[in-house]
Amino acid sequence: MYMKRKAPFKIKVVEPIKWNTRDKREQLIKEAHYCFAYVPAEEIPVNLLTDSGTSAMSQEQWAGMMRGDESYYCASNWYNFEKAVQDYTGFKYVLPAHQGRAAEHVVCRVLIKKPGTTTYANAHFGTTEAHARLFGANPVNLPAPEALAPETAADFKGNINLEAFEKAINEKGAAMIPFLNMVLVNNFTAGQPVSMANLRAASKLARKNGIKVVVDAARVPENAYFIKEREEGYGNRSIREICHEIFSYADVMHMSAKKGALVNIGGFIATNDQSLYEEMGQWLIIFDGFLTYGGLSGRDLEAVAIGLNEGLDYDYLAYRIGQVEYLGKLMREREIPIYEPVGGHAVYVNGEKAYPHLAKEEFAAHALSVQTYIEAGVYAGENPSSLGWSRTDPETGKYTPPPFELVRFAIPRRVYTDSQLEYTADGVKAALDQGGRVRGFRFVWKPDNEFLRIFYYKLERL
Ligand code: F0G
Repeated sequence: MYMKRKAPFKIKVVEPIKWNTRDKREQLIKEAHYCFAYVPAEEIPVNLLTDSGTSAMSQEQWAGMMRGDESYYCASNWYNFEKAVQDYTGFKYVLPAHQGRAAEHVVCRVLIKKPGTTTYANAHFGTTEAHARLFGANPVNLPAPEALAPETAADFKGNINLEAFEKAINEKGAAMIPFLNMVLVNNFTAGQPVSMANLRAASKLARKNGIKVVVDAARVPENAYFIKEREEGYGNRSIREICHEIFSYADVMHMSAKKGALVNIGGFIATNDQSLYEEMGQWLIIFDGFLTYGGLSGRDLEAVAIGLNEGLDYDYLAYRIGQVEYLGKLMREREIPIYEPVGGHAVYVNGEKAYPHLAKEEFAAHALSVQTYIEAGVYAGENPSSLGWSRTDPETGKYTPPPFELVRFAIPRRVYTDSQLEYTADGVKAALDQGGRVRGFRFVWKPDNEFLRIFYYKLERL
């Protein structure tokens, strides 16, 4: 298995890391009200908060940035970008966006025409959820039942629960469902992939009822890799071919290029639906930028165009997912309770198992995140957990924590070495060894919008 881990690159430029002390970290996180949004990044020696916008770019991407054409309309880089997205998705119409949520804003604004509707997903990403609410829809997650069993490995735990979706269509009526949102890989359920069979069936069900299918492709290359490796009939298909089939089940796709396209900023929307394209384009111009740049500079467009293609390379994906698997193996060896199997972009550690003495309301996952930082200078965010992901149902008023209390160790692409992953596993073990001495937290301040608690809040120790 580890023979697959042939790194398809070597390091040419290095960024120094500043190492601080345990005492300093304890002070820093306390002064930051136990919220990492207030900790200077240079005080975080190993930062596994996210794989979004944190990739190392290739020499081709950097060279491409030098060819940035900063003309307002129709920069030459736009044509490269448009072609790269068309080749990637098989769709004709392309809209650039400055990042994923800007794309979602436009998609949700145009597809959600009336309040009181419901959007369904295998699990909405937080920003999609927030946009659905903004335009008057209630976003409902329908993860497959196996996703809710963190210790039982299965191949495609990112799937949507098809029975539940069919039942929802029958109960709500298709006219009250603006879209089905399929997230590949599913960030909310521990980075697990969706099978082609599940996507195909969900899309068929939606389309039969006239419901639009939206694919969130932030990490679609990783999902395509899992399909190739795990699903019958795909072993001989290329990652690009698998992506084309994935997008054939969508009416519109959007992507945060900050993930699978190996750039630090960027995003886009693509579709074959001309009227949808024209309507979305008009909003894009107002909120993000003109149709040929969408909030990006010419050089950013070029980096996306090149990175999209690099992100489809099989050897790179085998290396990348091999690195996630390697961190999972290191954690298992140290008896750290992880969500099984590891996902496409991260290893998720089970906070409730790590600190069984803490109640859900005391934010066990966040306590593990904070402790790992204090012990080792490694930062991974609670995600999803009761701190940022508890929600009040607008219909019933019921406040419900998410099914998980997880810490996500997301691995930036082409950035950290295996030695840093080994160090990380040791750091988590050190945090676990603190055991019952670790106390939980309570809010001293939180933003009104529940969704924003993913990002910032103020806490004190219990
Ligand atoms: N969709 C998915 C599945 C995501 O994971 C994200 C971002 C977005 C959309 C929004 O994209 O950040 O470019 O606006 N996820 C980041 C993360 C923040 O850490 O998982 P964006």
